[in-house]
Amino acid sequence: MITIERLNLRGEGTAGEVAVPRTLPGEEIDGAIVDGRIAQPRIVTPSDQRVSAPCRHYKACGGCAMMHASDAFVADWKQDVVRLALSAQGLDAPLRPTITSPAGSRRRATLAGRRLKSGALVGFHARASDTVTAIPDCKLLEPALLAAIPALEELVVVGGSRKGEVKLTITSYPQGVEVSVTGGKPLDTPLRVALPEIAGRHGMARLAWDGEVLLQRAPPTLRMGLAHVSPPAGAFLQATPQAEAALLAAVKEAVGDARQIVDLFAGCGTFSLPLAENAEVRAVEGVPEMLESLDHGWRMAQGLKRVTTEVRDLFRRPLLPDELAKTDAVVIDPPRAGAEAQVIELGRSTVPVIAAVSCNPVTFARDARLLVHAGYTLDWVQVVDQFRWSAHVELAARFSRTQSV
Ligand SMILES: C[S@@+](CC[C@H](N)C(=O)[O-])C[C@H]1O[C@@H](n2cnc3c(N)ncnc32)[C@H](O)[C@@H]1O
Repeated sequence: MITIERLNLRGEGTAGEVAVPRTLPGEEIDGAIVDGRIAQPRIVTPSDQRVSAPCRHYKACGGCAMMHASDAFVADWKQDVVRLALSAQGLDAPLRPTITSPAGSRRRATLAGRRLKSGALVGFHARASDTVTAIPDCKLLEPALLAAIPALEELVVVGGSRKGEVKLTITSYPQGVEVSVTGGKPLDTPLRVALPEIAGRHGMARLAWDGEVLLQRAPPTLRMGLAHVSPPAGAFLQATPQAEAALLAAVKEAVGDARQIVDLFAGCGTFSLPLAENAEVRAVEGVPEMLESLDHGWRMAQGLKRVTTEVRDLFRRPLLPDELAKTDAVVIDPPRAGAEAQVIELGRSTVPVIAAVSCNPVTFARDARLLVHAGYTLDWVQVVDQFRWSAHVELAARFSRTQSV
C-alpha cells in the first residue's frame, strides 16, 4: 500500500517516483507498478476531497483528468501550481481566488475522429490510449458542439481514411458550428461535393478541410467589445466565454487608464478591441489572417480609438525598447512556450505597466523572473480555470515598473 503525497503537473497523484492517475494527496492506494505508474489503482482510503465524477464517460475518456476531485480542491491546487512555479524562480505574489469556467461552457475543442468498418467515431482520446471514446453526454462542451457530433461522424465516414485519425477543431459561433479538419483524405472532386453537402445539411456555419474553406453559410462572427470580428477558420479563441471575460477584466484592471497600449500576441483582438474603447492600441501578432479579421472588425465598429496592426514574429523580432518608448501599458499573451525574447526587451524598456496572460505557469514564472530582475514588481496574479477538470492552468498578472532601467 502506498500513500499519495502530491499531484504532478498532469494532475496525477505521486508517491516518490511513482505516478498514480486519478488519485489525490493523502489517499492510500494499492495496485501493480508498471514502468513507474499504477494505471489502475485501488483506492483503499479515499480523500475527503474525492467526489463521484459528474460524467458517465470519465472512466474511459481521457478528455478530463480531475473530475474525481472537488471543485474547491482543484481551485486550490491550480493556485498551488502557480505558487510553486513562482517560488521555483524565487518569486512570490498575491494570488487571487481561482475563477472556474462552468460545466458545458467549452465553445472550442479539438476532437479525434476514426473511420470504422461501418460508420465512424468522434470524441476525445481514451485514457492513455490512441483509441477514440464516444462522448455523447460530455459535460465540458457547449450543447451546440455536442449536438454536432453525429454530423462530424458523417464527415469522417466520407473524408476519413481507414488508417489515420482525423483531427476536428470545432468552434461554436452564434451563426452555427465551425469545423476545421486536418488529417483526412486529400480533397478530390467527389469530396469537394460530398463534404459541403453534409455541412450544409447540418447547418454548419463553416467547414474547412486542410485549411481550405469548403462551405461558409455566413461568416462566423464574435463580439469583441464594440466590434464584431470574423476570425479565420480554426483560429485561436479563448476556449470559454467566461474565462475570456475573466482574463479581459484582469487585463483591463491591470492597464488602468493607459492611453497608449501595445497588445503582443494579439490574435483576432480579444484584448485589443475592448481596450480600444479607452486607448489607442497597436496589435502585434504572427498570423496575418488573424490581424486582418481584427482590422476589419475595428474598421466596421463605431466608437473605438485607433487600432493599428503589425504582422511580426515576436520570437525572432521582439519589439525593442525604442519602439515601446511612448507606451503606457503592454498586454502580452504568448503561446505555451512563453515570450522570453520579448520579455528581455521589455526588461530594457520604460513601459510602466505590463498585463501578462499565460496558459503555462512554468514559462510565465520564467518570464516573470526576467521582468522582476529588470526592475518590475509582480503586483498580483489572477488564476483562471478555463479548462475545467483538466490540469491546465491559465492566469493573468500585473507587473509595474518600480525601479528604473
Ligand atoms: C494564447 S494566443 C492569444 C491570442 C489573443 N491574445 C487572444 O486572447 O485571443 C497566442 C497568440 O500568439 C500568436 N503567436 C504564436 N507564436 C507567435 C510568434 N512567434 N510571433 C507572434 N505571434 C505568435 C498565435 O497566433 C496566437 O494568436
